[in-house]
Amino acid sequence: MKKSNNKRGFFITIEGGDGVGKTTHCDLLSESLRKADFEVVNVREPGGTLIGEQIREIVKNNYTPSAITELLLFEAARSELIHKVITPAIYNKKIIIADRFMDSTVAYQGYGRGIPLDNINILNKISTNNITPDLSILLNSPVSISLERSIIRDSIKDNNGTRFENEPIKFHNKVNKGFLKIAESNLDRWKIINSNREISIVAEDIFNSVISVLDIKN
Ligand code: TYD
Repeated sequence: MKKSNNKRGFFITIEGGDGVGKTTHCDLLSESLRKADFEVVNVREPGGTLIGEQIREIVKNNYTPSAITELLLFEAARSELIHKVITPAIYNKKIIIADRFMDSTVAYQGYGRGIPLDNINILNKISTNNITPDLSILLNSPVSISLERSIIRDSIKDNNGTRFENEPIKFHNKVNKGFLKIAESNLDRWKIINSNREISIVAEDIFNSVISVLDIKN
């Protein structure tokens, strides 16, 4: 029988700029936690629900919406994910690992696009129904390295890069700085991990951070 040895659900988000390795590390973390007999639910943003995946297609596409439309699309996808997937998983005492969540909106639409942070925070409260992650991990890597990795990854998939990857380096620098500000202002929730190292070392760091917080909070 699965351990499900957490007494309550536990919500982890993995955040960072394009190409820092979030998806790889979400997969590796879930694999390690499952091996340790935890029950894990993986989600990604935008996505993870029927409407969320449709919104993902719209926002990643080359058609450029206004900044506010883009913001509301991410929030709509989030609301759907919270209501249909995350809340039930927390209730069922699962460990949820989210590849991006509300802090991506603060970093990209707030610090990146310049939408006032107060407005984003209000919308985040509405879309998340006030649910905040128990632990957020910021994968941090110099923009010049991570962005190139992300563009190469997409060219292998025969795709010319998403609308976000094609933004100028200035935009990505603002997003990166934004993530660091968000994380550094709330180190009770955040762990900042240098992802510009060997994958296995980064994975071990992430796993150890998760286990130490799980032990404290359960
Ligand atoms: P994705 O392919 O998931 O990027 P990555 O693999 O780097 O995570 O595409 C999601 C894109 O959407 C990504 O470039 C960041 C952007 N995004 C926002 O701008 N705001 C948000 O709130 C979220 C969740 C994502």
